[in-house]
Parts: sequence; C-alpha cells; structure tokens
Amino acid sequence: MLQIKNLYKKLSETFSIEIPNLSINKGEKVLLLGENGSGKSSLLRIIAGIWKPDKGTIIKSYNVQSYSPPDFSLIPDLKVRTIWEAYTAIWNAHWELIKVFNLEELFTLPCRALSDGQKQRLLLSMVLVKSADVYLLDEPERSLDKHYTNELINILNRIHKTFIIATHDRTLIEKLHSRKIELKNGKVICEC
Ligand SMILES: Nc1ncnc2c1ncn2[C@@H]1O[C@H](COP(=O)(O)OP(=O)(O)OP(=O)(O)O)[C@@H](O)[C@H]1O
Ligand SMILES: [Mg+2]
Repeated sequence: MLQIKNLYKKLSETFSIEIPNLSINKGEKVLLLGENGSGKSSLLRIIAGIWKPDKGTIIKSYNVQSYSPPDFSLIPDLKVRTIWEAYTAIWNAHWELIKVFNLEELFTLPCRALSDGQKQRLLLSMVLVKSADVYLLDEPERSLDKHYTNELINILNRIHKTFIIATHDRTLIEKLHSRKIELKNGKVICEC
C-alpha cells in the first residue's frame, strides 16, 4: 500500500528525516509516536505529498488519501450545516459521523463561534467523510474531551482502512488496535 525507501529530507541545519525502509500494508493502523520535534508532522506532510523528499522514493499503491493537517483553517462566517451539507454532497457518504461527533448540535453556529474541541469535531468529520484509501491524521484527539476521544477511538477501530496517525495521547495509544512507530530526531527508533 505504502512503501518508503531511503527517504531523506533536510529541514534545517540540525534536523532531517531519514527513513531507510518502511512499509505500511492495506488496512493497517499506524501510530507515529515521539517527543515534540521528533518529525511526526513532517513525515505526514511528506507522505501527503505536501513536501517533496530530497532523496528516496515513496511508492503509493492507492488513489485517494485524506489528510488532516495540524493547522487546518475554517471560513469564519460559514455555518456548520453549510459545510457539512457541501461535504456530504461531494462525498455522498457520512457513516455515523454526524452522530458520533454530534454535529447537529453545532449546525446553526458559524465556524468563528466554535470552541477548539467543537472545531476539531467538525474537522475530523470533514476528513473522515472523504472516501479515501488512506487517512493521515495529525493529533486527531487535539482538544477533544474524554467522551469524544473515546468516540474517535471506537470509530477508528471500526473502519477497515489504512490510517497513519501522529499522536501523544495515552488513551489512543492504549485503546487503538495499531502498530506503533516511534520517531526520534527524524529517525525510527522503535517499531512494535
Ligand atoms: N517548515 C520547517 N522548516 C524548518 N524546520 C522545520 C519545519 N517544520 C518543522 N521543522 C523542524 O522539524 C523538526 C520536526 O518537527 P515536526 O513538526 O515534524 O515534529 P513533531 O514530531 O510533529 O512534533 P510535535 O509533537 O511537537 O507535533 C523540528 O525540529 C522542527 O523545528
Ligand atoms: Mg506535530
């Protein structure tokens, strides 16, 4: 599904991503772990195709991916209902997302009136509603309370798609059935 070979990307004088070999199979859920600045978001950006590697190859044997960047922005005056109707019209699918993230209670609000956690519920729904083969999520549990973090984990455990997720969240690490890859200083230091 995804094969990384001899990947090298220099980001600064002191930091580079270096991954000699990494394969991710169809349907696998992979958590990218590691301390602040270890390279998780950078690796997701490279896999998403936003950043080009300096060297190496990334072979993708799939068509569509859905990416939730850490700095996703919403148009302040748009109402949640308008966004959601546009997304479901495009993707023609909405699983149980509307129930899981309880978007209906936010429908009448413009994006500028959403709390951080409410914004994250909308953003996650927008990313997950897209019918993609691979989903790249950067700290998807950000700003979610305990209830919605558990809802997120439940839905991820139920979806049989490939997910690559950067996280620090203990609950996600413990409860999501996943392979764990730990990065340090741009390199893989542990796989389990
Ligand atoms: N656009 C950029 N230009 C130069 N260096 C960058 C850039 N983006 C990130 N870096 C550097 O790359 C390193 C890895 O950053 P990255 O954002 O990938 O870490 P992370 O593992 O996602 O950290 P966090 O847990 O804080 O989200 C850091 O040292 C950071 O300063
Ligand atoms: Mg990050």
